[in-house]
Amino acid sequence: MNAHKKTLGDLRSQRWFGATDLRSFGHRSRMLQMGYERADFTGKPIVGIINTWSDINPCHLHFRERVEQVKRGVWQAGGFPIELPALSLSENFVKPTTMLYRNLLAMEVEELLRQHPVDGAVLMGGCDKTTPGTVMGGISMNLPMIFLPAGPMMRGHSGGKILGSGSDVWKYWAEKEAGTITTQQWNDMEAGIARTFGTCMTMGTASTMTSIAEALGLSLPGAASIPAADADHPRMASACGRRIVEMIWEDLKPSDILDRRSVENALVVHNALAGSTNAMIHLVAMAGRAGIPIKLSEFDDFAQKVPVIANLRPSGAWLMEDFHIAGGIRALMVRLSPLLHLDARSVTGGTIGDGLAGMSVYNDDVIRPLDKPIVESGGTAILYGNLAPHGCVIKPPAADPRFLKHTGPALVFDDYDAMSAAVNDLDLDVTPDHIMVLRNAGPIGGPGMPEWGMLPIPKVLLRQGVRDMLRISDARMSGTSYGACILHVSPESAAGGPLAAVRNGDLITVDVSERRIHLHLDEAEIAARVASFVPPDRAYPRGYNRLFAQHVRQAHEGCDFDFLEGAGGIPEPEIH
Ligand code: FES
Repeated sequence: MNAHKKTLGDLRSQRWFGATDLRSFGHRSRMLQMGYERADFTGKPIVGIINTWSDINPCHLHFRERVEQVKRGVWQAGGFPIELPALSLSENFVKPTTMLYRNLLAMEVEELLRQHPVDGAVLMGGCDKTTPGTVMGGISMNLPMIFLPAGPMMRGHSGGKILGSGSDVWKYWAEKEAGTITTQQWNDMEAGIARTFGTCMTMGTASTMTSIAEALGLSLPGAASIPAADADHPRMASACGRRIVEMIWEDLKPSDILDRRSVENALVVHNALAGSTNAMIHLVAMAGRAGIPIKLSEFDDFAQKVPVIANLRPSGAWLMEDFHIAGGIRALMVRLSPLLHLDARSVTGGTIGDGLAGMSVYNDDVIRPLDKPIVESGGTAILYGNLAPHGCVIKPPAADPRFLKHTGPALVFDDYDAMSAAVNDLDLDVTPDHIMVLRNAGPIGGPGMPEWGMLPIPKVLLRQGVRDMLRISDARMSGTSYGACILHVSPESAAGGPLAAVRNGDLITVDVSERRIHLHLDEAEIAARVASFVPPDRAYPRGYNRLFAQHVRQAHEGCDFDFLEGAGGIPEPEIH
């Protein structure tokens, strides 16, 4: 445990409340106006609680209560809590895609913390982009902070079947389109798949990112796997409130915690979970804020040495509730101990290893031993070639093995609507060997790189029993998706990437074992076609979309804004 380094006079909030000038009079009188006693807020660390609650975010529906439980912890430890509402970014409802707004949330969090009299922060998030968004902002502001995950919802069920978020939606939609389940069964699933508040309960993007936040050392041990509706969750919320007050006195900041070891721990955990491909964008961006570069190829390097041991959907059989009962993220990290930097730092003030003490695995099928994994290695592959000079991503275990080495003719779509119409056409000229291509779906082209990467299989093929085919795009896909989907092609077509050169019938070869993706055209022809390609008009005249299109980085660089990368460099606000 750190020795206390700060005294009251060192606290940032004292610049607002500790002086005897006219402006401090105003600050204190306005606190009194809100009904607080002077003793409530003077002489105490002030904790900003970033709350991403909204009426239309079912994943964070409990945050109205949880924030009170965080405040309880802050009061118990002798701090003063201030709730600061931030963008909620509900994955289901925000259009065109929450990814368009992750950086806006990061900016909002950084500026909320900068502009207010706070000494440290608890960041409340969980629904996909809210973890990287809040954490990126927190890292850049570099005040003491803890990330509190929303926690997954309980298992879904319908008709006696256990249902998992996302994954079972895609699966049963395909069955509905193929005519193998009834409309009544489909409607029953709609009511049964999401039973409680909390994030998706498969190992989708939400649980991948909260697990990564914990592996980075930014959450209290075990927080990432506690179900939202479990009584452990409010206890964790209060523990975060207590701990952040200690962290403020200890002056334990993200820059004291994050280093190369933390990032490698996150890469290990990501691979052991067969985590969402979205992490390959978010972790690059989060580490970038801490000044720790990650190459896309490192995800592949770690995939070769880390077995997938979490038997969780969509790659495995179980759900997050089962994972928690099996010991959860701490138990997984105990299993991974030989591969982790146990001496990396944590918000506890100790090491990652300290946080695992006394923990063990309670179910060897949910969290497999290292020598009995779900997949021995290669949970992720990064492919390069003339179609993706800066790389693209595939999850080989989620694909039909026959597509891991495949050559086929391209079937190209320039926009999502055209593709959606075409796949419903029972006369579409397509075979199971075709390779579907969707472009104009990247960071600029989407805009915001929507989760369109699991391109729908044409109905005519579904009716023939086809359930997978090779698909390539510059889009992302949901962490709950699966199939032979090649994603994040970089650079994207709208930024002059070679995906712009592909035409119907061109042959494409994918060879995962050689990490190769190849368009069978010579370089001069590709260059000529790219030069004549007209991307969609994304020259927004004003507003956030304009800022986004002008400053977003490409997928392999984490899609952060060029002017937000790194920490520090911005002076504290003037107080007068
Ligand atoms: Fe919020 Fe999946 S929709 S976590």
